[in-house]
Amino acid sequence: MKYPKEYLDEIKTRLKVSTVVSKSINIKKRGKEFVGLSPFKNEKTPSFTVNDEKGFYHCFSTGEHGNIFDFIMKTQNLKFGEAVKMLATLAGMRPYTFSKEDEIREKNWKEYISIYNKYTNFYHEALIKNSNSETAKNYLKNRSLTINEVKKFKIGYVEKLPNIYNELKKEFNETKLQESGLFYFDEKKNIYVERFKDRIIFPINNISGQPIALGGRIINEKNNVAKYINSPETPFFKKGSNLYNLDIARKLSNKVDNIYLVEGYMDVIGLSKNEINNVVANLGTSLTEKQIIILNQFFDHIIICFDGDSSGYKAALRAAENSIKELKPEKKISFLFLPDGNDPDSFVNKYGKDYFFNYSKKNLISIHEFIFNHHKEQTDDNPSSLAVFEKTLRSIANSIKDEFIKKYILEFFLDKVSQLTPNINNIEKKFYSKSIKSLKTTQKQFNETKNLSQIELKEFSFLYIIIDNLNLFYEKLDLIENVKIFTKENRMIFDEILLKFRSNEQFKVEDLKVDKQLIERVKKYASIKHIIKNNKKDDEKIYDLLNEIIRDLKNHELELRIEELESKFSEDLSETTFNQIRELKKMQKIN
Ligand code: UTP
Ligand code: MN
Repeated sequence: MKYPKEYLDEIKTRLKVSTVVSKSINIKKRGKEFVGLSPFKNEKTPSFTVNDEKGFYHCFSTGEHGNIFDFIMKTQNLKFGEAVKMLATLAGMRPYTFSKEDEIREKNWKEYISIYNKYTNFYHEALIKNSNSETAKNYLKNRSLTINEVKKFKIGYVEKLPNIYNELKKEFNETKLQESGLFYFDEKKNIYVERFKDRIIFPINNISGQPIALGGRIINEKNNVAKYINSPETPFFKKGSNLYNLDIARKLSNKVDNIYLVEGYMDVIGLSKNEINNVVANLGTSLTEKQIIILNQFFDHIIICFDGDSSGYKAALRAAENSIKELKPEKKISFLFLPDGNDPDSFVNKYGKDYFFNYSKKNLISIHEFIFNHHKEQTDDNPSSLAVFEKTLRSIANSIKDEFIKKYILEFFLDKVSQLTPNINNIEKKFYSKSIKSLKTTQKQFNETKNLSQIELKEFSFLYIIIDNLNLFYEKLDLIENVKIFTKENRMIFDEILLKFRSNEQFKVEDLKVDKQLIERVKKYASIKHIIKNNKKDDEKIYDLLNEIIRDLKNHELELRIEELESKFSEDLSETTFNQIRELKKMQKIN
């Protein structure tokens, strides 16, 4: 279905971009444009601009760019058609109707929302006002809920003998009422029964804050009655697509970049009572890929915090294996495990907000570490078990859709596996560990074994050429002064050499204020000396040799930097880091 261009243009002419944008973020006029803090990124300096003349917004920090429809779709997570409807209303235009079917669906949707609104308002007020809601009220009080939470989440109580059905029947037909999922037909008694009778109800809202389903908890726990029930799926409520409290939490995405994902209604409410509002719940169903995608539209970091018991752990594992597939650069998924027997609600009520954050900071574990640790615990120290272990990790990594993330997670897994199997033969091991050791390892190795590393030998040659040809460098200091020397002893010599050159005095090797033994070492081990001997007096050749060594040293520096960034990337999976790595690899190729 396509909207006619005239209709869309009419909306655009009636609504300036700045009008639409300023409904949700603060923008200030600057010259021809407006600027403000980007709604796509948590930032402190404004990088978001709006240009009414051109009809576009542009965000310099994320590259997001578009017109009013894009803006509404992206910031409110709406489909194009929904954005058009919303903006048409804002522009004071009639909604565009496509066909008879659309018209019917539109009408059904309005009725559906209206039924839910009436129902939730009715029982919310009943809970607050009616005297026969005392048991429910006491129950909530015992669970330390105040009137604030009851109002904020529009909690209600459906009495034991409810009678709203006959009331609603005056306004809506039976099919519609049954379709809402609030009632079901009892064939034996030939009457419509309220699904949520004698339950505390929690309205589940869509992203714009309209109630589209309910969760209901019993007050007196009995065997063979489910503690919680949800509305069944309806034409307007699909289970894996909604998250409890998303309508409230998403509004915080300008302020925080993480969102807590918990299991239950009471966890959301308990955290909210302790002033933690960036929380959603996935309502007893297993976490879907769609829910991850929705959360990522608003938040960069999803923290999954399920109950500290074995079923919470199992749910967390399932969530990890489902959601790792959707991991994207710049996005992060972590897990927070609570002490046994706690759920987020009980934990935060016991210890408070600060303790919760502190605990959260100390105990967060990244999704790939969690998966690795879990499978490691299932593994015994024998070849067949280790093989299964590696195979499982490989197949999890392979399920990741994003190629970059896939590559790095796989590397992370294999690297960790190789650390577990130190005796695996060296040829195999080359696949896992990088051939070039980090600086620290290099130095340590030197101290431990007194063997000389490749890089140190290069440095000897570099220094040797200089020492042996001091007269060539007085005027050409720029050739060497930016070279990075990695080993401490060689750096001492080099610094001393530079100092002398910069003092503009003629000097000899003997004048350098360094341990003579260090100089001897250079002379002894610099393999270049044999070549130099044969090229005495050929200055060009000497410069060439020097340049070659400098290039090797530079590449080593790049290599170390890349290695460092790669390990950073396996932690933060950020696109910035990834791009840095790519740039460095490019430079390596040029060299
Ligand atoms: P919990 O049993 O952990 O909920 O189930 P809770 O919030 O700790 O419950 P309280 O504190 O006893 O009130 C977590 C979520 O799983 C779903 C619900 O969505 C619940 O919030 N659930 C649980 C069901 O759908 N049915 C059930 O029978 C139990
Ligand atoms: Mn719980």
